[in-house]
Amino acid sequence: MLSQIQELQNSAIKEISACTQADQILEIEKKYLGKTGQLAQILKNIKNLDNEAKKTIGQNANLAKNEITQALYARKQELENLELQERLASEKIDVTLPSKDLSVGTINPLTKMIAQAEKIFLSLGFAIEDGPHIEAELYNFDSLNFKKHHPARDIQDTFFIDKPEHEDYGKLVLRTHTSPVQVRAMLKHGAPIKIINPGRVYRNEDQDATHEHTFYQIEGLMIDKNAGIGHLRGVLEEFLSQLFEKQITTRFRPGYFPFTEPSLELDMSCVFCDQKGCKVCKHTGFIELLGCGMVHPNVLRSSNVDPEEYQGFAFGMGLDRILMLKYGFQSVCDIRANDQRLLKQL
Ligand code: FA5
Repeated sequence: MLSQIQELQNSAIKEISACTQADQILEIEKKYLGKTGQLAQILKNIKNLDNEAKKTIGQNANLAKNEITQALYARKQELENLELQERLASEKIDVTLPSKDLSVGTINPLTKMIAQAEKIFLSLGFAIEDGPHIEAELYNFDSLNFKKHHPARDIQDTFFIDKPEHEDYGKLVLRTHTSPVQVRAMLKHGAPIKIINPGRVYRNEDQDATHEHTFYQIEGLMIDKNAGIGHLRGVLEEFLSQLFEKQITTRFRPGYFPFTEPSLELDMSCVFCDQKGCKVCKHTGFIELLGCGMVHPNVLRSSNVDPEEYQGFAFGMGLDRILMLKYGFQSVCDIRANDQRLLKQL
């Protein structure tokens, strides 16, 4: 029986050394050391031996089992390492290869246009101001000389916040234009002042090709001892010429805003036909662009600026509409549609 055990050990060690795959190790273990394996078969008749022989055979059987187990474990480790190395060699990554065609986003044209507009106005000496989007009625309407019954205060035009009315500030609204920032800036900095404020505004509007409920405006304000309509025109012509990269001329028409007196509408020379007449300008050579005017004395008073000492102009334009003109968008909705086919062309 002793020689049988020795033979079994030799044959197992030989088989383990010759084994080439880690998952075969389990089979070898079963074959030699399993419950019905070869060692168990040899030891089946141990019960018939005397005690001394039982002890010797038992000890030798245990030694053989330990030797085989260790050999199995060592070879398993060896084979697993080898397999890992082979896998790493076959799966190695070549970091110098060109990447797959990743689709990278771009800056939205509206954001680009705001940055461009800010750059132009900064070069003309304007500072940039910002204001809250959830605004008090006081700043959005009252301080801007909107009377209590003005239709813009109607729930149909304006998004009101569902909160109790404040004694001094009135109700809370999503700002309907950027003009409340004029008042806030004058209260904060006083006069003279020269600012622009771009930002998002909200109106309770039905959507169509030129109307969105959420859109962008840029507001300008210049208050000084003698800032006048000539300066207003000069600033806007310079701004538009730089923005459209061609010489732009403008014309005024009478308009109405509660916060300016006189109020004006400004048209710019048609960028599509250079005033020869086309469909966009309806053969007039001009495109309607923005509202502007001289700041109303009541607005100056509400902003703690003395209208006897200071005067100035303000203007406000819709950036979405200017973007439509610059890139020929058919609808304001296209700007926010995130259609890559279109955005990639800008
Ligand atoms: C105003 O909002 C005034 N606060 C502008 C102003 C400022 C006048 C300072 C005088 C002095 P108006 O409602 O016309 O004005 O809007 C200004 C511009 O916003 C419009 O010319 C238009 O380009 C744009 N706009 C208005 N409504 C929408 C809309 N629903 N969707 C997209 N753009 C719009």
